[in-house]
Amino acid sequence: MPLSVTVLLSGGGTTFDAIQSYSQRDDSGFNVTDVISDTYDAYGLTRARNAGCRSHYVNYNDYEDRADFDEALLRATAETSPDLVVLAGFMRIVNPEFVRAFSGKLINIHPSLLPSYPGLNTYQRALQAGDSEHGSTVHFVNDVLDGGPLIAQAIVNIETNDTPKSLSTKVQRAERILYPVVIHWFASGRLIMRDSEVWLNGAKRTTPIRGIVNIHNNEEFEFDEGA
Ligand code: GAR
Repeated sequence: MPLSVTVLLSGGGTTFDAIQSYSQRDDSGFNVTDVISDTYDAYGLTRARNAGCRSHYVNYNDYEDRADFDEALLRATAETSPDLVVLAGFMRIVNPEFVRAFSGKLINIHPSLLPSYPGLNTYQRALQAGDSEHGSTVHFVNDVLDGGPLIAQAIVNIETNDTPKSLSTKVQRAERILYPVVIHWFASGRLIMRDSEVWLNGAKRTTPIRGIVNIHNNEEFEFDEGA
């Protein structure tokens, strides 16, 4: 049985698209069954419907307060009976109850090489710091913002003429390769979280898998698992 994946998103859903396309491969091991958004008009929900996934929204502005929203989000997610919950551009912090409910089966992608630059505006911050590389990290989610156990990172080089826009374009291309591969690892039983640590292929990881995303002709990409 393929693993059932529920994706949470807030915006355009290009990351969801990449995950959903990958799921169509014979050996992906997973199906994206449901997509949930905190925004009723997120374009990612339209993409979800076009792809034949069930789409749901828990519109943040419909709730009296944060606690009510959090409760509704947890209920809506639990109702999809996911084997894995994937945050893909979900721009709200999930609360501790949510983390507990899906512990070990809740992952996020964040556009920086964590632990550098948790939070917002990572592209500007990396450029301002004069960094030579940037990238994206997939991690299990815990109660610390962008602070859970690190699984894998895709690295891109920063060129002297990069702007926040050009850098985000490169990083987002890399994310669209990295994230589906990590979900595939989880679906095939190669990746687990045990005692708040990442295990991949039967071995405990003390550092995330780091891979360079090779961009050929600006069109084709491949994720190299690296060391
Ligand atoms: C992605 O770049 C993802 O890393 C980022 O939002 C983008 C979603 O784009 N997530 C975060 O910043 C979470 N802290 P999309 O809506 O087109 O998939």
